[in-house]
Amino acid sequence: MTRKITANLYMTLDGRGAFPKYPGSDLPTGDPDEPDEFFRSMWTSRYDDVTTVIMGRRSFVGHRDVHSEKNRKPKDPKFMFEYSRFLDRVDKVCLSHRLKNLGWENSRLMKGDLATIINKLKREKGGNIIAEGGPRLIQEFIRRDLADDYWFLVMPVIYGQGPQYWRSLTQQRTLKLLSSSAMPYGELVLHYSSVRK
Ligand SMILES: NC(=O)c1ccc[n+]([C@@H]2O[C@H](COP(=O)([O-])OP(=O)(O)OC[C@H]3O[C@@H](n4cnc5c(N)ncnc54)[C@H](OP(=O)(O)O)[C@@H]3O)[C@@H](O)[C@H]2O)c1
Repeated sequence: MTRKITANLYMTLDGRGAFPKYPGSDLPTGDPDEPDEFFRSMWTSRYDDVTTVIMGRRSFVGHRDVHSEKNRKPKDPKFMFEYSRFLDRVDKVCLSHRLKNLGWENSRLMKGDLATIINKLKREKGGNIIAEGGPRLIQEFIRRDLADDYWFLVMPVIYGQGPQYWRSLTQQRTLKLLSSSAMPYGELVLHYSSVRK
């Protein structure tokens, strides 16, 4: 079985890779111990067949410092602990030239040409692979057409600051919409596949 490569994009309406505050952005909806529709769409319902998560250095360090189980706060909801346990046990690939100590179990360093790295990972045994940011890494997936599908989380904010997803792209990329859903606080979750001839 070929390992599917999925890229996740988190952006504002103006294509910024940032997590601004907006009405509903930090309010739990419904049962605080159960993931809401928003969290399920982007994370918990998609991760069962994923065994590798790739992150650029900044994204890796950010996730490690916030989402590893040892860094969870006791008041965090139960589903965030479950998400942390998933991240702790999954095979994590951190892309970096400068980081030496990763400080997170089940992590390894890779560096160099991204297409070569992806081909190497595809030849390894395992389930599907998710590229979980940051924006700079995901831009390279798009520029070089390295992902099979893309999940966009679009926040209802025109932010005007933060890293830009699209600025460095100079060539057309056409995607095929597979699903779209609007979340209770106005976020859009869009799933596209790559279109290859
Ligand atoms: N999911 C997310 O993480 C996410 C989503 C939205 C916004 N953001 C925000 O975006 C910012 C992160 O910025 P970013 O896009 O620059 O982060 P990033 O993609 O996580 O990290 C970029 C770094 O990854 C390393 N890298 C990437 N490709 C490599 C390769 N082929 N070989 C070796 N190293 C490679 C390089 O690190 P070295 O310098 O060590 O070589 C590069 O400087 C943060 O402020 C964060 O809050 C993050």
